[in-house]
Amino acid sequence: MALRTVVTEGDEILGKRAREITEITDRIRMTLDDMAETMRAEDGVGIAAPQVGVLRRMFIAEVDDVYIELINPEIIEVSGSALAEEGCLSVPGIIGTVDRPDYVKIKGLNRNGEEVVYEERDWVARVLCHEFDHLEGVLFIDKATDIREAE
Ligand code: CO
Repeated sequence: MALRTVVTEGDEILGKRAREITEITDRIRMTLDDMAETMRAEDGVGIAAPQVGVLRRMFIAEVDDVYIELINPEIIEVSGSALAEEGCLSVPGIIGTVDRPDYVKIKGLNRNGEEVVYEERDWVARVLCHEFDHLEGVLFIDKATDIREAE
């Protein structure tokens, strides 16, 4: 595994829609491993492939003991609404308040190509929606109110 450089705001890749993954190769799996290592080194709770310069549809999320890897994710259902502060490894030092669903049902493939479905609430749902947005070229600061420097 290896640490990857996290792309930061201003790089045009962060504003692009990521492409579907048509074949889960060893290179894809290695990228997922590198993303996990990079996320942990940066104390993040999620990271999407475009954030390491790979414009493909996959992300990971890790909150407490929940670890989720999704390839070609699709949001099936959302409900509710909640406001909370967010940050992003690609927008260092900045936080903002974002309105997100408090429930999400999302499906995708795991690294073995098997379909997986997650139903998550609250903070984990927020992280999944945030990471999904990265695949659409959307950053939290595109949606946030009260954008400010982190203390
Ligand atoms: Co982010």
